[in-house]
Formats: sequence, C-alpha cells, structure tokens
Amino acid sequence: MLNCTQHTPVLLNETINALSLKDEGIYVDATFGLGGYSREILNKCNCSLLAIDRDPQAKEFAAPIKSTFENKFTFINGKFSELLKYLKETNINKVNGIVFDLGVSSPQIDTKERGFSFKLDGPLDMRMSLEGPTAEEFINKVEEKTLANIIYEYGDEVFSRRIAKNIAYERLTNRINSTGQLATIIRKSIPFSKQKIDPATRTFQAIRIYLNNEIYELEKGLIAAEKSLEPDGILAVVSFHSIEDRIIKEFFIKCSNNQSTSRYLPEKNERKNSLEIITRKPISPSSKEIERNKRSRSAKLRVARRTNFPSYFGDEE
Ligand SMILES: C[S@@+](CC[C@H](N)C(=O)[O-])C[C@H]1O[C@@H](n2cnc3c(N)ncnc32)[C@H](O)[C@@H]1O
Repeated sequence: MLNCTQHTPVLLNETINALSLKDEGIYVDATFGLGGYSREILNKCNCSLLAIDRDPQAKEFAAPIKSTFENKFTFINGKFSELLKYLKETNINKVNGIVFDLGVSSPQIDTKERGFSFKLDGPLDMRMSLEGPTAEEFINKVEEKTLANIIYEYGDEVFSRRIAKNIAYERLTNRINSTGQLATIIRKSIPFSKQKIDPATRTFQAIRIYLNNEIYELEKGLIAAEKSLEPDGILAVVSFHSIEDRIIKEFFIKCSNNQSTSRYLPEKNERKNSLEIITRKPISPSSKEIERNKRSRSAKLRVARRTNFPSYFGDEE
C-alpha cells in the first residue's frame, strides 16, 4: 500500500503546451505515475488518452481519472517498450502526441519499502514493476567487476571500483539487505569531498537503471513512439540525468538527419527525416519551479515533431 500520494509534475505547462493538444486527438502518457500529465491533458481538450505505467501501484491513481473521463481514458499496467503492442490491443493506429516523464515517482522514492531511497532505511528492492530480481538479490550475487562497470557506466561514478570492492568485502560476512546498509558502505568508500549531493546518489541511480533495464526501455520506447506518431504528432520527453538526455538527444539527431554531423549517417539527401527537432536546446525548469519543487532541478524537456516521411526504423514491427 502506498503511504505517500503526492507527486508534483515537473515542467507540466511546458510539456503540455509542447503537445499542441487538439480536440478528437489521441495521446499517450507513457509514464502515468500519479497521473499529473494525464489529468492535465484530459482537462485541456476533448481527446482520448492511453496511459501506461509499469508499476502495478499506479492503478490506484488511475481509478479516479477513469471514473471522471470514462471511455476517454485507458490505463495499462505495463512497460512503454511494449507501446506498439498496447496500441494494437486498444485498436489505435496512430497518435497525435506522446509524452515520457522518465525516472521514479515521489511515492516510489518516498516509500521506504520500495527500496529506492538512500535517505530512508528500507529493504533493498528498487523494482518499478515489482517483479524480477530485487536489488538485494542482485547486490549479494553480482560479480565485483561487473558491479564496478555498472556503477561506472550508469552512475558516472569515478569511485566505482572502490565501491564495488567494499560491497564485495562486506557481503563476505554480512548479507546486504537494506538501503541504509548499502548507503553506508558507499559513503565510506568515497573520500571526503565538497560534493553537494549525497555520495550514495550515483550508485543508487546506477543500480536502479540496471535492475529496471531502463536504457533498453528508453531506446525501445522512443522507437515505438516515433513509429506510432501521426505526421505533425509531437514527441515530448522529460529526463533527469545525463545518460538519458544523451540517448534522447542522439535519437532526435538520428531521426532528423539534417542536424547530424556524424560521418556514419547517410548524407542529408539520401534519407528522409522522420522527426523535426523543436527544442534545439532542452527546456529546463524555471528558478521558481526549482524553488517550489527541488526534484525538478535536473529535469530537461526535449521535443520533436513527426514529419510526413516514413519511419526511420521501417514500418514493420
Ligand atoms: C516521474 S514518474 C511520472 C510522473 C507523472 N508524470 C505524474 O505527473 O504523475 C515516472 C513513472 O514512470 C514509470 N515508468 C518508468 N519506466 C517505465 C517504463 N519503462 N514503462 C512504463 N512506466 C515506466 C514509473 O513507474 C513512474 O511511475
């Protein structure tokens, strides 16, 4: 059961405005969470909305929206990498806009039993979908070198080897089974520094990304989104760390080859752009928003518009 039911949607106005909502349109909220974006979309226009979230607990937040908007709103408990399958199942061909608001919701991070937070001492879980191996199972079993690579790659953590070594040493005598225990090992592994963030931040982020297969999800989700958009349809993506933002930026560049400088991509005229980039630079929250909602501080919004040209990835599934 959730013990926290608040989540302040980040970059809400900017994202909803970017979608250029229209009556009779069909939209997808790929990361429903507590439905902050979904509710705003449905309130703003007479449209239909398909909302997806991999967390089974998100269903609780979908129920009141369903009772207000009835057949205008459909919630699916699943992963956005499966978007094409869900569209087929709900008899939707193409959509007018898709929004992703990546990462975890406030109830996920603020509920200690979910095991995402290094600030609250709880079981080491970290599974968004509540299925598959827990962080506890992973951290007590993974090979030290593999763990170091994961922490480095998904956490940009320069002390990754030292952290992995200390985790491997600790688990020889004590099973690591709580977020507090893991955070203490990480903090002790990092030399005193003037860092503003908690030293456990990066490692927790890395384990979460790995365990939930977030990079694969993002890449598959973006491809599915590009394939499902109508010409002029909008893709809006909010991300919270540089690994995600880099993937989104490169995806946009790849699909809009006139901006690409890569010598490996075909020349401008050999390919047709399936996306037109709307945000040359990502949109960040205003200082007012950051003051109101500290969690928004690292958010970045990137927006692209689907063109008339065929999908960059082909139309087959
Ligand atoms: C930042 S929250 C979204 C908050 C939402 N915009 C709101 O205003 O309430 C991110 C949500 O995306 C979900 N999520 C993350 N990765 C997902 C994936 N691959 N497929 C579906 N849902 C995902 C998480 O479970 C979480 O509920």
